[in-house]
Amino acid sequence: MEIISSCSQIQQTCMQARQSGRTLALVPTMGYFHDGHLSLMRWAREYCDMLVVSLFVNPAQFGPGEDYQRYPQDLDNDVHAAMEEGVDILFTPARSSLYPDGFSTWVEVQGLSGKLCGLTRPEHFRGVTTVVCKLFNLTCPHKAVFGQKDWQQLIIIKKMTRDLNMPVEIVGRPTVREDDGLAMSSRNAYLDQELRKVAPRVYQGLLMVRGRFESGQDDRLELELELRSYYQRNLPQAEIDYVQIVDSNNLEPQDRVKPGALAAVALKLGQARLIDNILLD
Ligand code: PAJ
Repeated sequence: MEIISSCSQIQQTCMQARQSGRTLALVPTMGYFHDGHLSLMRWAREYCDMLVVSLFVNPAQFGPGEDYQRYPQDLDNDVHAAMEEGVDILFTPARSSLYPDGFSTWVEVQGLSGKLCGLTRPEHFRGVTTVVCKLFNLTCPHKAVFGQKDWQQLIIIKKMTRDLNMPVEIVGRPTVREDDGLAMSSRNAYLDQELRKVAPRVYQGLLMVRGRFESGQDDRLELELELRSYYQRNLPQAEIDYVQIVDSNNLEPQDRVKPGALAAVALKLGQARLIDNILLD
């Protein structure tokens, strides 16, 4: 595995590979790998001739007072894990090379970026789409792979590539969970022992609401209320950021919930802001 930090080098290497007829896949990450990240790499490895994984903690997607400064990192472990997965190139740009002095260009998907997580993180998705666009320009991938755990991020990136005619296919892969149901996340490292024990209730609430939908309840406000009160009863430690049931394609609320809708939640549990979602079908 090659580790490349230079933007010009990664661009040259990837463009040459693409021109010589090789298929390229990119898995963008912020590192501190867990099985969720590795599942994306494994899927991409099967598909492509050249697998590029980017590792960059992107300052532009963190708001003031958020966890940019303390975001967990373990480069040695990540390098080792990426090698085990057969990654060809680990791209580890420096902050100053992606955002040199005077950087002033932003890519923003309007509408979708203001919903759900965008309500309390107003500039978050602009930071995500800008860095992902830069990573696409640097690595010219045929496919780029993202996790459905970050459902909103996934559909925003799909919309960006459609709206801007980017020649890349976006692939979404299922959420990987711990044995007790907690969605894997680098931020789970912020949970202390007590909070880690109760954190699976985030997913249990989602399973509960899916069960209610399956047994005939399709009133969105009622389902949201039931989920909210489930968390108030079973996770009183959590501060609820949002509990919403929306159309999974455009994130709009529907009065009568239809199959294929998305139940999405964000909760603060101690130092960790956890997000999770489930499709209702
Ligand atoms: P990060 O949180 O490191 O996640 C990298 C990729 O892994 C994302 O596509 C995310 O959806 C996926 N992922 C995270 N947890 C997962 C899980 N439990 N199961 C399956 N996939 C999972 O998301 C980001 O980084 C950044 O916003 C990024 C896209 C890299 C832009 O900076």
